Amino acid sequence: MKIATILGTRPEIIKMAPIIDEISRRGIDQIVLHTGQHYDKEMSETFFDDLEIPAPDYNIHVGSGTHAKQTALMMEGIEEVLLEEKPDIVLVQGDTNAVLAGALVASKMHIAVGHVEAGLRSFDMTMPEEINRIVADGVSTMYFVPTQESAINLLAEGFSRKNLFITGNTVVDACHRHLEIARKRGIQEESLARLDIGNMDNILTLTMHRAENVDIRERVVNIIDALKELTQMNIVFPIHPRTKNTLEKFGLFDELNNLEHVHIIKPIGYLDFLQLTSASTLVLTDSGGLQEEAITLDVPALTLRYNTERPETVTAGGNILVGSNKDAILKYVNMILSDKEFADRMRNAPNPYGMGDSAKSTVDAIEDYYDNGLLDIEAPEDIMSSFTRKMAMIEEDITVADFESKEDALIHMVFDGEKMCFPADDLNLNGMMITYDKRE
Ligand code: UD1
Ligand code: UDP
Repeated sequence: MKIATILGTRPEIIKMAPIIDEISRRGIDQIVLHTGQHYDKEMSETFFDDLEIPAPDYNIHVGSGTHAKQTALMMEGIEEVLLEEKPDIVLVQGDTNAVLAGALVASKMHIAVGHVEAGLRSFDMTMPEEINRIVADGVSTMYFVPTQESAINLLAEGFSRKNLFITGNTVVDACHRHLEIARKRGIQEESLARLDIGNMDNILTLTMHRAENVDIRERVVNIIDALKELTQMNIVFPIHPRTKNTLEKFGLFDELNNLEHVHIIKPIGYLDFLQLTSASTLVLTDSGGLQEEAITLDVPALTLRYNTERPETVTAGGNILVGSNKDAILKYVNMILSDKEFADRMRNAPNPYGMGDSAKSTVDAIEDYYDNGLLDIEAPEDIMSSFTRKMAMIEEDITVADFESKEDALIHMVFDGEKMCFPADDLNLNGMMITYDKRE
């Protein structure tokens, strides 16, 4: 079997590293293709070094550009490599343009696509990431979904549960592994000292780069107005290049940089960033990955967005959406500082993203599909004997797996009263309403 991983940005490198490691640990043939969307050393190369994974086999150097141009260049480059390498499956991760380009090219070449971190939905079609997720999910073969909630999003859109694997999120694998590496190397103190931020109390780690925040002046101004008043915090802001450019364009960079309690620094490596996050009183962010890492590291998160495709972090109690609303930002930062019970509740929120064995379950599932010939994409010959869609109220003790084998059926959705549940094989259906496909 040959697995091709396509990645292009900082978070994809971080979240695919545990899978790349796992594939190589098992001696499976693999190639890694970097689209070159992120190209600064501190947005790309640093992570291959820090995460101890080999440099990519291919880099197609697409660089920055409009969505159409960037995606088109990626598609051309990816097609050339896939024609040459002929992998059995292409893995894409998350919701960047690499995911869109990789999934489209591979699926049209009849190569199976495995979407890592599938099923997330913000329900906000103004986000480029939402479009990328929906299109990639539409053409994928295997779906590695972090939580039941993301699996249910896909079931509600009509995807078959047979191809959904609830794996947790590889970000937990990455956090655990790299905190351990950092601990062994004894670099905690060193990392924080390198940041040169003086006082280590009340650290607020800030990251933001989302188009819907940084490209809109009014939003940036509101956020900066809040930051100005947070003089009790030691704000550390590893700035994304996109954000640096737009702050400079809006004439706001110097104003923010001149605030004594705000330390704007270049993006930092993963080991250092984990130390910084772990040492923080809270994070203020619009990053997807950081919302997940914060709950993994027991650090309260305030998210600079009005929606999130990571709602589990909010319902678990570790994350609050503050948008770009100055009053909300100030209110919740002050509550975290002054109300110990409130802060502890946020810190102790259960992590919905698993135990850190996500890479292992992902590669297990891929090996199983390969061994059973399920990665072969072929035209169906026998559409006339397909399924009839039905609905039933179940009034007996029977599990999903037993019902399916008894009825020669495939269950789609299970409703426990108003609540939708994921039809795991061992779920007892007694008292539940189900929808299913039955072979006639
Ligand atoms: C991209 C992803 C976003 C992800 C983010 C992770 C898409 C549509 N967006 O957003 O989902 O959360 O990466 O960080 O795929 N730039 C540099 N050097 C670099 C990279 C970028 O200077 O190495 C600057 C360029 O001016 C560029 C701008 O940042 O135009 C934006 O970069 P781009 O890759 O288009 O989008 P991101 O905002 O990074
Ligand atoms: N990160 C990092 N150094 C930094 C800022 C972020 O290593 O200076 C890591 C962070 O730990 C997280 C990832 O980058 O894993 C998030 O990337 P980003 O916010 O760019 O993208 P998103 O997750 O929003 O797609």
